[in-house]
Amino acid sequence: MSLLSAAMNRIQPSATIAISNKARELKAAGRDVIALAAGEPDFETPDNIKDAAIKAIRDGQTRYTAVDGIPELKAAIVAKFKRENGLTYKPSQITVGTGGKQVLFNALVATVDVGDEVIIPAPYWVSYPDIVQFAGGTVVPVETKLEDNFKLKPEALEAAITPKTKWLIFNSPSNPSGAAYSRAEMRALTDVLVKHPQVLILTDDMYEHLVYDGFEFVTPAQVEPSLYDRTLTMNGVSKAYCMTGWRIGYAGGPEKLIKAIGTLQSQSTSNPNSIAQWAAVEALNGPQDFIAANNEVFKERRDLAVSMLNQASGITCPKPEGAFYVYPSCAGVIGKTTAGGKKIATDEDFATELLDAEGVAVVHGSAFGLGPAFRISYATATKDVEEACLRIQRFCGSLR
Ligand SMILES: Cc1ncc(COP(=O)(O)O)c(C=O)c1O
Repeated sequence: MSLLSAAMNRIQPSATIAISNKARELKAAGRDVIALAAGEPDFETPDNIKDAAIKAIRDGQTRYTAVDGIPELKAAIVAKFKRENGLTYKPSQITVGTGGKQVLFNALVATVDVGDEVIIPAPYWVSYPDIVQFAGGTVVPVETKLEDNFKLKPEALEAAITPKTKWLIFNSPSNPSGAAYSRAEMRALTDVLVKHPQVLILTDDMYEHLVYDGFEFVTPAQVEPSLYDRTLTMNGVSKAYCMTGWRIGYAGGPEKLIKAIGTLQSQSTSNPNSIAQWAAVEALNGPQDFIAANNEVFKERRDLAVSMLNQASGITCPKPEGAFYVYPSCAGVIGKTTAGGKKIATDEDFATELLDAEGVAVVHGSAFGLGPAFRISYATATKDVEEACLRIQRFCGSLR
């Protein structure tokens, strides 16, 4: 009898976490490493949010809460969906989990059966396919193209849908490409979805607030209200509110699904951290102006990274609308050889040799299901983004 369950054969440790850990180890060993692998803002959680958490502790908000969130947080989420997305949910249609990741995990495990297909546009966030596979489902990746700025085209969506399609997992702005869909681009996709009533839509809006140049964020059920009854609109406080460590994510959706997510949570982690929930109430209800201030900095770094990467030999980098990632193609360096004589056959080789030669940690595109490319997170000091891009230029220039 084997120690581990069959389900464990269907998942792998997160590639992004693995690379961040490797960069941390090299740094600890004294190497000069710039890590552009982590998916979290380098800004501090705002003080008003921290203060709300401290107050919650002092007020004795330290006990078990309702499994799927305190009423005050559900009310703040209901108000957020109304205010920012024009979506009307009742508190019974809201669930709160330990990060957006738990909400996604619960939603998929609660709904996916063996044989169910889940469409995931590639490049995709690393956790989607593993969670689907853990649940027993079949991943249907749909590759996007650099020429389309890595956005899913309606024809490609249509072609991927079958009678077995259970979910489309949609993510705008995207991790890892930063691509965000305009209202017209979203409309083209929702027009396809309207024709296929068996398909549920899981929209991961985690990077909603991180958009630049006046881009207007939209979410599927807002653009096409007839999809409301089969859409789970997922979001969280991790990225925009700089609260990755606090672990609060949430979703609004059909009551039956929300209830099932809560049942699953009641048999695993129970309620998300009580203090973090109070902090999230303040995040959603409190001042929002710091988001625009942070975005100014992110935009400057995006522009810097895109411009410098496009000057690196063999690299092509589209300019994305949002998130804090860029996703350059490294097709032009595949087949070349490093100064040390190592052949670059894949994007993983590129990332490995770049880390070795120049101490720059990036994540290879094949981890996100579309290569040869790599992901850079520019949620790190501007001077480090600049220095890392200089090193990438030097590394690419040294390849023969
Ligand atoms: C696209 C996307 N969805 C969900 C998550 C999960 O967020 P959380 O930290 O709230 O679990 C992340 C985090 O990296 C993400 O990039």
